[in-house]
Amino acid sequence: MPLIALCPGDGIGPEVTSEAVKILKAIDEKHSFGFEFEDAPVGGTAYDEFGHPLPDKSLEIAQKADAVFLGAVGGPKWEPLDISVRPEKALLGLRSAMDLYANFRPAKLFSPLIDASTLKREVVEGVDLLVIRELTGGIYFGEPRGVEDFEGGKRGFNTLVYTTPEIERIARVAFEAAIKRDKRVCSVDKANVLECTELWREVVIEVHKDYPQVELSHMYVDNATMQLIRNPKQFDVIVTTNMFGDILSDAAAMLTGSLGMLPSASLNGKKGMYEPVHGSAPDIAGEGIANPLASILSVAMMLTYSFDNPQAGAEIENAVAKVLDKGYRSADIYSDGTQKVSTSEMGDLVVKELS
Ligand code: IPM
Ligand code: MG
Repeated sequence: MPLIALCPGDGIGPEVTSEAVKILKAIDEKHSFGFEFEDAPVGGTAYDEFGHPLPDKSLEIAQKADAVFLGAVGGPKWEPLDISVRPEKALLGLRSAMDLYANFRPAKLFSPLIDASTLKREVVEGVDLLVIRELTGGIYFGEPRGVEDFEGGKRGFNTLVYTTPEIERIARVAFEAAIKRDKRVCSVDKANVLECTELWREVVIEVHKDYPQVELSHMYVDNATMQLIRNPKQFDVIVTTNMFGDILSDAAAMLTGSLGMLPSASLNGKKGMYEPVHGSAPDIAGEGIANPLASILSVAMMLTYSFDNPQAGAEIENAVAKVLDKGYRSADIYSDGTQKVSTSEMGDLVVKELS
């Protein structure tokens, strides 16, 4: 029986996780996956209860599971904590312990939501790109790191480091993903200034030799940021470092109008953790108004990547598109003339379309 670890986390995390589970159960009725679920508390709520944002027991459950679903972590309540036990540490700990080095963040515009974007219709209409972010290396994890006393003041430092194998494996993931899409990869670096990303570029060029059917281009991260806003349709797959990917994926997300719509997958082969790109939104937690669609679309990615069933994944995506077509909206994507629904009503509507 495939086991799914559930990490609801903080803020709106539990609310959107409930809707994800609803969808998993509905799709299980149709396709008989035989899913089993086990709770694995993480984040600030886990810190409050167990003294650590990623308790050993939770990590164990995540590691033995076939896939992990994570709602969101973090909130102002835990910001004063030391960085080593802040809720975000749960995310970084899971990524690192499970070696989930490839982070997929698709940004695809659902046409009924075109007016939710802050950009002009002609710029965003038809946007369909995929940011592939390296997730277990780079400056996020590089050593040495810290803050130390220095000349009567302090000195803070982090280290940007990538090895050839780390770059090779993420480059391969990007080329393989591009083959299933529009066969174009843009590698984003800062090779004009940072030696580490000069190596990144060299290795990507080397790996590309195995994928002649894919077109490869390179951009410096500052230019890529500008191009993403100026003409996002030029991109198919973007592959980049952990830090640049963190930033670019937020920008890419906003092209589609709402962070509330964007799913993500963090992968190592079939093993994966799936989470909505939005955060824990503590300001609206518990009100039942959060948008569950990013979570529901993350479930679609789970079926595609961890359970080898892209068809079931597509069924979920189509169900979401239909619900939007019919004019149902959560508060974050509501506009005049549409019908506002709650978090759980939105989940029910998707289930109805599925069955
Ligand atoms: C993300 C988030 C995380 C990151 C934080 C919460 C640690 O911003 O998943 O993009 O920086 O990776
Ligand atoms: Mg981020």
